[in-house]
Amino acid sequence: MSVRGGFALGVVGGVFLALAVAGGTWFLLLGPQLAPRTAGPGSLGDPGLALSAQERRGEALYVANCVSCHGGPTGGSMMDYPPRHNANGHTWHHPDCGLAKVIRDGGDEMTQAMREMMALASDAPTMPAFKDRLSPADIEAVLSYIRLMWTPQQRSVQAQVTREQCAPR
Ligand code: HEC
Repeated sequence: MSVRGGFALGVVGGVFLALAVAGGTWFLLLGPQLAPRTAGPGSLGDPGLALSAQERRGEALYVANCVSCHGGPTGGSMMDYPPRHNANGHTWHHPDCGLAKVIRDGGDEMTQAMREMMALASDAPTMPAFKDRLSPADIEAVLSYIRLMWTPQQRSVQAQVTREQCAPR
């Protein structure tokens, strides 16, 4: 091997070594935070995330009643209609009491304004009322599952919006 070839190999090897060390350090520092949550909720897709009983129930209800219109934890965009509930949508902009109300009673003035703003065809699907199908505890469970689709930052903004706009429970 020529001297230059050996030098190039050394450089490449050095870069790999540096990346490996940086990756290892990153994992040592951040790995534990990605692992099972001990305090505060994690997000779907976090390795080792363990769903609570309420979140598992919410997931089953979501899959049975909501996913066909609102989609799953990934994909979609802010402009999709029906709106995406995951981190790419705007559900996390709304407080818990507003979300629970729409699930309970179906589309309201807020969602009607949204429809007009987006100039939808009049036969575009609307949000059905679930009050005859889901109990208040079911709605809480579905919301606990939807929250797992959000990033930690979105969750904390939404918790703040809820504190500001909803009566304390
Ligand atoms: C037939 C399709 C359909 C089904 C099924 C459906 N939705 Fe909706 N949902 C909509 C549409 C469309 C909107 C937008 C409001 C409107 O135009 O009525 C909406 C709006 C919402 C909103 C408020 C908007 C926002 O920011 O996210 C929430 C919350 C919501 N739905 C939750 C649910 C949940 C939870 C379920 C299952 C229990 C569900 N939806 C099932 C169509 C549906």
